[in-house]
Amino acid sequence: MRYLTFALAKGRLAFKTLDLLEKVGITCDEIKDKDTRKLIFVNEELKLKFFLAKASDVPTYVEYGAADIGVVGRDTILEESRKIHEVMDLGFGKCRMCVCGPEEAKELLKGNEIIRVASKYPHIARDYFDNVKRQSVEIIKLNGSVELAPIVGLSDVIVDIVETGTTLKENGLMVLEEITDLSARVIVNRVSLRIEHERISKLLTDLDRIMN
Ligand code: PRP
Repeated sequence: MRYLTFALAKGRLAFKTLDLLEKVGITCDEIKDKDTRKLIFVNEELKLKFFLAKASDVPTYVEYGAADIGVVGRDTILEESRKIHEVMDLGFGKCRMCVCGPEEAKELLKGNEIIRVASKYPHIARDYFDNVKRQSVEIIKLNGSVELAPIVGLSDVIVDIVETGTTLKENGLMVLEEITDLSARVIVNRVSLRIEHERISKLLTDLDRIMN
């Protein structure tokens, strides 16, 4: 039997995924050790391998078949638009992708003038303004703390993830428009889905059962 390899997005999502996998009898204790510098973990008995990767790299590993299965947020799947199959919503990591800004920016979203949009998600932002709103925008790519952009005058609005809304509130910003709902998703390599169909569908059925 060949190994089935999982790529998990580092951080909270990975730990939640490991908890879920444990409930269906898939364990990998070693990966939970916060002090380890190992990059890949093996469950010999079940012929499974696991590795943690930066979220934005997970769809890449899965597209190229370096991982058969990935778990990553829908935000990353949309932003990376890789050739992969999204097969399951795990229901955790729920949040929203929104256009946010100061209240005054509401008017700018109604008008025809070119506005500046800062985001860690330039493709999602571009797609929304080009194809949904049909408004001309200049997209400015940032790598974090995006809420700063409208505060210091780098952009008019931002496109970012809103979970509790606390970051916005504490910085005098608000949700102006909702783009889409997000949560953790299971993605599968297109070839693996065919050649490992039996093992993968059993896993998905087991996950589905414990989630419902
Ligand atoms: C995310 C997102 C927001 C924040 C939203 O940032 O970009 O800044 O969480 O959460 P809230 O609605 O619960 O306040 P993240 O923590 O990933 O860090 P970042 O600043 O590097 O984007």
